[in-house]
Amino acid sequence: MIHPEKRIHCKKYRIVQNEEPVPGHRLMCLHAPEIAAGAKPGQFLHVRCADSTDPLLRRPISIHRVRRDEGLLFMFYRVAGRGTSLLTAKREGEEIDVLGPLGNGFELPSPGERVAVVGGGIGAAPLFFLVDEIMAEIHKRGADLTDEQDTARQALDFYLGAATGSLLPSLNSFLVRGVRVHMATDDGSVGYHGTVTGLLQQHLDEQTHIDRIYACGPAPMLRAIDELAIRRGIRGQLSLEERMGCGVGACLSCACKIKNFSGDGFTYKHACSDGPVFNIGEVWYGH
Ligand SMILES: Cc1cc2nc3c(=O)[nH]c(=O)nc-3n(C[C@H](O)[C@H](O)[C@H](O)COP(=O)(O)OP(=O)(O)OC[C@H]3O[C@@H](n4cnc5c(N)ncnc54)[C@H](O)[C@@H]3O)c2cc1C
Ligand code: FES
Repeated sequence: MIHPEKRIHCKKYRIVQNEEPVPGHRLMCLHAPEIAAGAKPGQFLHVRCADSTDPLLRRPISIHRVRRDEGLLFMFYRVAGRGTSLLTAKREGEEIDVLGPLGNGFELPSPGERVAVVGGGIGAAPLFFLVDEIMAEIHKRGADLTDEQDTARQALDFYLGAATGSLLPSLNSFLVRGVRVHMATDDGSVGYHGTVTGLLQQHLDEQTHIDRIYACGPAPMLRAIDELAIRRGIRGQLSLEERMGCGVGACLSCACKIKNFSGDGFTYKHACSDGPVFNIGEVWYGH
């Protein structure tokens, strides 16, 4: 029997909002209580962008956040091409056809681990849900975040990188004790001048201790994080954003290279159903 929370749903859901908080990006909220109830951070939705068959294929968009008590589900998407442009025309009160939640999702850290969450560009989208869930776990465990020692142990470092400051999403909801936000921009307009990986590397060199890293972003960033984490013996997970067709393991269009058992070659896995989240050290980057 399929556990009710693990069910994949495919139906039309009502749009509650679809606004542009960041230029060229939209925050869409759906009333989708069944999906919100069972979703895990790192999972995604496969969205039909038009009522016609053009474009034919659905587009994968991560679950950005959920508000389970209200049955709400958020997607934060960059307007990249035809499918996402069509999504921008959707208005509050209209419905869209969604398949999900799909994919495996992140494993939450063990109690007491120091965590770094690293997002590059639109790759930050699924990490908000992850940060929400980790902080909820910490609070559920009753960690006393007013105690300085406890705070230091439980704190979560959220690294965000973007080309320029105006593309950084709002982080107001994280300005609570326990989440420390670090920003990097390619043009230096906000935060560290350089890549988010460079900023993380600098903090690790300055003795910031991290037990676990979670990352999502462009492939070169994920590769750099993978190498850095392996070098320093830090465990963690990466979420890949391969192009996708069916989203459910049936078409092979999302094939990605994963190290084979002996580690000297690779085998193919489906990013949609085996991933999109893989462990650090698992993805084959040609070495
Ligand atoms: C598991 C998963 C989760 C994702 N989550 C999000 C999200 O939360 N927010 C978001 O904005 N985007 C996300 N993406 C990327 C998103 O699916 C693509 O941007 C989207 O499918 C583009 O569709 P389009 O029709 O608008 O553009 P297209 O016309 O199909 O493509 C436009 C441009 O975008 C590039 N592109 C298309 N698909 C991808 C992709 N998967 N990765 C990188 N570049 C791509 C194309 O190469 C092309 O240059 C995710 C992708 C995956 C696989
Ligand atoms: S998208 Fe079809 S197998 Fe993954």
